[in-house]
Amino acid sequence: MRAGFLALALAAWAPACSGATRPPPVSGPPPGASAPDNPFVGARFYVDPDYVAKVELTIPIAPSRAAQIRRAEAYPTGIWLDSIANTALVSRDLDAALAQQKSAGQPVVTLFVIYDLPERDCSAKASSGELTLTNGGESRYQTEYLDRIAAQLRAHPAQRIVLIVEPDSLANIATNLGVAKCAGAEATYRHSIARAIRTLSMPHVSLYLDAAHAGWLGWQGNRLKIAKIFRDVLTEAGGVDTIRGFATNVSNYDSLRGGDIARLEPSDPCADELTYVEKLSATLADVGITGKGFIVDTARNGRSGIKTKSGSWCNVKGAGLGERPQASPGPRVDAYWWVKPPGDSDGASDPTAAGYDETCGAGWPDAAPGAPSAGRWFPSYFLQLIDNATPPL
Ligand code: BGC
Repeated sequence: MRAGFLALALAAWAPACSGATRPPPVSGPPPGASAPDNPFVGARFYVDPDYVAKVELTIPIAPSRAAQIRRAEAYPTGIWLDSIANTALVSRDLDAALAQQKSAGQPVVTLFVIYDLPERDCSAKASSGELTLTNGGESRYQTEYLDRIAAQLRAHPAQRIVLIVEPDSLANIATNLGVAKCAGAEATYRHSIARAIRTLSMPHVSLYLDAAHAGWLGWQGNRLKIAKIFRDVLTEAGGVDTIRGFATNVSNYDSLRGGDIARLEPSDPCADELTYVEKLSATLADVGITGKGFIVDTARNGRSGIKTKSGSWCNVKGAGLGERPQASPGPRVDAYWWVKPPGDSDGASDPTAAGYDETCGAGWPDAAPGAPSAGRWFPSYFLQLIDNATPPL
């Protein structure tokens, strides 16, 4: 996962922007899958037991802070289906969520991230995936990945399920075709994402396509490029109504209001993430995509003034937890959610590690040292996110 840094290479510079305790129940409709509009409204949020286990592992490192650490366990995080093997998580988590729904007498919403595209993370190295153009990745994505997930979703028709589809992918097609791997994967990305939408679209499943973030696609030219790509992919997938909306700021650090973009990228008309949501909605309407809801990742955007380069995306030092996951926090926003599990690394800082990306290394001013590979637990970073949480944890 990266956040657009190699966009620098392009003329149209897309600056890099590249259960334990649960939150209190909210009032809402009776149990059931149907969520007429926003799937988060009136629902409890399913908490990933693997995330809870990782947080618990941190307690022996900082035992005096056990109570504060445990408070972080109560919040939902994205469950990343980042490999074929991990598709088995879908049934495990949906079975558990269904049991909670039955005992609570209230819908429980579960959020997964679809993340195994062939030639994944084409403009960076830290999150390259298992599927490639040369190992039959395009057909394997359908048969070994999407079809397996779809079967498990179909077996859980009485639940609300949210899927965020392929972070960073179409944004890379919008701005990073100067990178050979992205140019070579463009057609595969477009067709595979259209297939993902077609395969996973079901009445009880709300799909959100990843739309990068303000610091990557905020410029008008970039917004127009991504809007046209979304329109084309959605047309191939069966129409603009196949998705509920878009996810922004996934794994990134943009503030909801104010923050670093005005300082680091003064030409960007989207100085923060909520401005991006507003302006992107308008650009989408210009190409015929209307009435969409947004999920904004607030796992790590609590603090600003932390980046020296707008293109920093890897384990940015000084970051803090942002707004707590919640439904309908404002206009057009279906939910704030901790999509990137806070404490998961973005990439290794060791230059000899597989998938090393220089943006994560000691030579990169904004990257926290001592990081493990992407997706692995990074306890010191988790503790920093808690220390800097805004609002405080
Ligand atoms: C990694 C995935 C991981 C996800 C969430 C991505 O950067 O590539 O393996 O599941 O982050 O931490």
